[in-house]
Amino acid sequence: MKICVIHGPNLNFTGIREPGIYGRRTLADINETIQTYAEKKGVAISFFQSNYEGALIDRLQQCYQEHIDGIVINPGALTHYSYALRDAIASICIPTVEVHLSNIHQRESFRHTSVTAPVCLGQLCGFGETGYLLAIDALLAHGEKVE
Ligand code: DQA
Repeated sequence: MKICVIHGPNLNFTGIREPGIYGRRTLADINETIQTYAEKKGVAISFFQSNYEGALIDRLQQCYQEHIDGIVINPGALTHYSYALRDAIASICIPTVEVHLSNIHQRESFRHTSVTAPVCLGQLCGFGETGYLLAIDALLAHGEKVE
């Protein structure tokens, strides 16, 4: 199985930005943990991060061209308002799991809405970087169910 992990805006600042909320580990640290976990599970993993909505959409469409089997996406703040990202996820028809490091439902009210979650298999939030590992498990379980 080929899974692409996509990180949206400001996630390159993880470890620096609001460590009380997002932790002190950098995105490189988190990606390393995901990579190790994926290898253990026999998953071929790739990573992408951008602060630009269009670049994220381009990468999602590239996943379609590359026949990627599953996507794990943390769309950052775009979660709450990007219909363009939502449409991109919906159009590629690849099982996608939305992940957030923080529990968005415990935070400001504008974070309670996700416009992207309805076109995803599901949403995981509030588990820190473990959410990415749980998302891989969810995609593997979904793959077995579909086969
Ligand atoms: C986030 C939650 C979003 O509300 C926020 O804008 C982020 C990070 C998270 O991982 O908890 O950038 O997606």
